[in-house]
Amino acid sequence: MQRNSIFLLLFVALTGLISACSDMGKPAEEELSILKANNHPMLMKYCNDCHAPPKPVEHKSSEWTNVIYRMNNHRIMNSLDAIPENDKKELLAYLISNASDS
Ligand code: HEC
Repeated sequence: MQRNSIFLLLFVALTGLISACSDMGKPAEEELSILKANNHPMLMKYCNDCHAPPKPVEHKSSEWTNVIYRMNNHRIMNSLDAIPENDKKELLAYLISNASDS
């Protein structure tokens, strides 16, 4: 009998803790979009070889084309595959539409 109530108490305490934690871990809508914004599969594929992929908000929309041009040259100079034209277009469109002034 007493054993059961201890288990019950533990159960209540644990479920309380777990639900408190899951509330805490819930990112706000804005944080979520920043996480997503830095998580485009092409950023991981073409930018992660040399440094952590940048966030689109690190540049203005007018600057990204030059940055990607320079990074593509870094890739070629380091004997990595150049970014295929279609992927470059898609990545640029994504960076530009999430840039700091977009
Ligand atoms: C082959 C290595 C390499 C790869 C791959 C690479 N970078 Fe870079 N990146 C560099 C180097 C070296 C620098 C510092 C010199 C410079 O800025 O050119 C740099 C600097 C940067 C900077 C900071 C300088 C600035 O102009 O703001 C950004 C942003 C950046 N890279 C974005 C990217 C993106 C986006 C990709 C993927 C498309 C990428 N990089 C892939 C080597 C690389």
